[in-house]
Amino acid sequence: MASRRQIIVGLGGVLVAGAAAGTWRVLRQPEAAIAPWTGLDQPVADPRLDAFRHAILAPNPHNRQPWLIRLEGQDSAVLTCDLTKRLPQTDPFDRQIIIGFGTFIELASIAASGRGYRLLVEPFPDGEPQPRIDERPVAGLRFVADPALRPDPLLAAIAERRTNRQVYRALPSGRLAALAEPGVTLSENPVMLGQLRELAVAAITCEMHTPPAHKESIDLMRIGATEIDAQPDGLALSGPMIEATALLGITTRASLADPASTAFRLGLEDLERTYGSIPAAGWIVTPDNSRASQIAAGRSYARLTLRAAAAGIAVHPLSQSLQEYPEMADLYARAYRLLAPEPGQRLQMLARLGLADPVRPAARYPLEAHLRA
Ligand SMILES: Cc1cc2nc3c(=O)[nH]c(=O)nc-3n(C[C@H](O)[C@H](O)[C@H](O)COP(=O)(O)O)c2cc1C
Repeated sequence: MASRRQIIVGLGGVLVAGAAAGTWRVLRQPEAAIAPWTGLDQPVADPRLDAFRHAILAPNPHNRQPWLIRLEGQDSAVLTCDLTKRLPQTDPFDRQIIIGFGTFIELASIAASGRGYRLLVEPFPDGEPQPRIDERPVAGLRFVADPALRPDPLLAAIAERRTNRQVYRALPSGRLAALAEPGVTLSENPVMLGQLRELAVAAITCEMHTPPAHKESIDLMRIGATEIDAQPDGLALSGPMIEATALLGITTRASLADPASTAFRLGLEDLERTYGSIPAAGWIVTPDNSRASQIAAGRSYARLTLRAAAAGIAVHPLSQSLQEYPEMADLYARAYRLLAPEPGQRLQMLARLGLADPVRPAARYPLEAHLRA
């Protein structure tokens, strides 16, 4: 029979083990979900697959990763959209989803250059889908060997790029110039940035208080490492505070959706801090709002983010005021007054820029999940 002392020591061990298990649960990070960011230096025989394993790391709205890839013949591929991955509330005309195809194509093109292939892109070979995208191809791609082609210097930045949603510090004078990119306007004008801060905070507040728009984000939230590894897309909430409050039942989809809850209030306060932290800004305007222009905007945005990653500058899109749903109409008009594109031109992307502590890579499905026979 165990002595009293043995029982007490045994109980202590269980408590220590229990505490350790709890600590592990709180401190764990997504692992499978970030595997696609690693191993990019391992060779892959087919240059198309090499390009696409880089391309799936592209920034894209709500991390929906809507890219479907069909390889054709020896040198081509066709991209179509997984129509279940659209965001009908906040992106009613699929404009941002198409921008996310532009970012994908730009990363594929940069990666192909590293293997000596030029990527020829035919956007919407069967016509531009309007007013929403459909199952027709978004682009036909052809990989053409070009011995004269030099690797794009932005290739190394693909695995380093992140969307960074933290509070930003100011950029040292002159540093913003590293981000100069055709099609991108950069600003450090304090008067303009003051107005932009107000606009960005008002727009994220408007989204949070528009239930269908907010619910679209809530439904895509992955709360904690287990959910993120199981569904490596959407909006990831991770870190010790999230794991702990999720374990305690405080952070749940229901509490995040409820404007009367503490989780909702703390979430909005956090967004006010970050969306109002704008040491510098960049935006992308296109001559029109054709689907081809949306692809071009995505390509420019991808290059901006890679330049920023290479220069150690953090980037965070502030898309809310550019979105086309009725509750946002006043703030949409304010964004157009503030950023003043020419008549007929279209604001496609708006992002804040600054210095910030590094963040972990966002979740991704593996390349195989995007390949179609
Ligand atoms: C068209 C577009 C709009 C975006 N808008 C926002 C936004 O308003 N707020 C935000 O936090 N992230 C925004 N993002 C960033 C995505 O959420 C991000 O790219 C995605 O979650 C994947 O994360 P990663 O960029 O770190 O790989 C946007 C990205 C794109 C391409």
